[in-house]
Amino acid sequence: MTFVDAGPVGAFRITPSILAADFGVLAQEVKTIESESDWLHVDVMDGHFVPNISFGPPVITSLRKYSTKFFDCHLMIQEPSQYFEALKKAGADSCTVHYEVGKTAEHIKNARALGLRIGVSVNPDTPFEKMEPFLGDIDLILIMSVFPGFGGQSFISEVLPKVERARKLIDENNLQCDLQIDGGIDLTTAPIAARAGANVLVAGNAIFAKDDPLQAAKDIRAAGLAAR
Ligand code: DX5
Ligand code: ZN
Repeated sequence: MTFVDAGPVGAFRITPSILAADFGVLAQEVKTIESESDWLHVDVMDGHFVPNISFGPPVITSLRKYSTKFFDCHLMIQEPSQYFEALKKAGADSCTVHYEVGKTAEHIKNARALGLRIGVSVNPDTPFEKMEPFLGDIDLILIMSVFPGFGGQSFISEVLPKVERARKLIDENNLQCDLQIDGGIDLTTAPIAARAGANVLVAGNAIFAKDDPLQAAKDIRAAGLAAR
C-alpha cells in the first residue's frame, strides 16, 4: 500500500467526516464531495472508548478502491496499536489516537514504525497540557469540540482556548504539526475555529446532511478561509 501525500503542513483544509454519509452508497457520497475534500475524515469507533460502533478496516478497504484521498483516521478505540497494521493495510494514511486511552508514547512509536502519520486527540474535558509533552513527535493535534461518539452534536466553544494555545505552541516552536478541530463545525463555527488557529476542519452533518453537500463543503471552506 502506498501512502497518499498529506500536503503541506499548516495549509487550510476541509476533511469531511464520512460518519455522516449514507453508508449504503458510501463511494458515491465521497465522489460527490471529492473536489472539495482535501482529506477524508474516517471515524473508527469500538463501542468501548465511546458508546457507539461505526466501522473498521473492511469498510476502509472497500472505500480505498473508490478514493485516492488522504485517509485521516480518527480512532475512538481503546487499544489503537492493536489495529494499526490492519488499518494501514486497509488504506489508512494517518491515525489519530486519543490521549485518554493512555500509552500515548507507545502508540506514537508503533504508528511510526509502520510508516503511518500520527495524531493525538483530547476530549473537551481533557486539559491540553496533558498532550503537550508529545507535540514534537506528532503530525496532528486534534481538539475535540464535542464529546466523541456521535455526529450532529453542538460545538462546545469552551475548547477554543485549547485551539489558541496549540496554535501558539506550533508557531512559536515551528512544529511540523497540523491543528484539527472536530465536532459541530458548520458555517457559523468554521470561522470561529479557523480564527482560533485550527487549519484542518472536520465537518460531517454540515456537509453530508445537506441537500447539496458539495456546495455546503464549498461554503464551509470559504467561511473558514475568510476568517484566517
Ligand atoms: C464524533 C466524530 C466526528 C463527527 C463529526 O465523534 O469524531 O468526526 O463525525 O460530526 P459533525 O460534524 O456532524 O459534528
Ligand atoms: Zn472524528
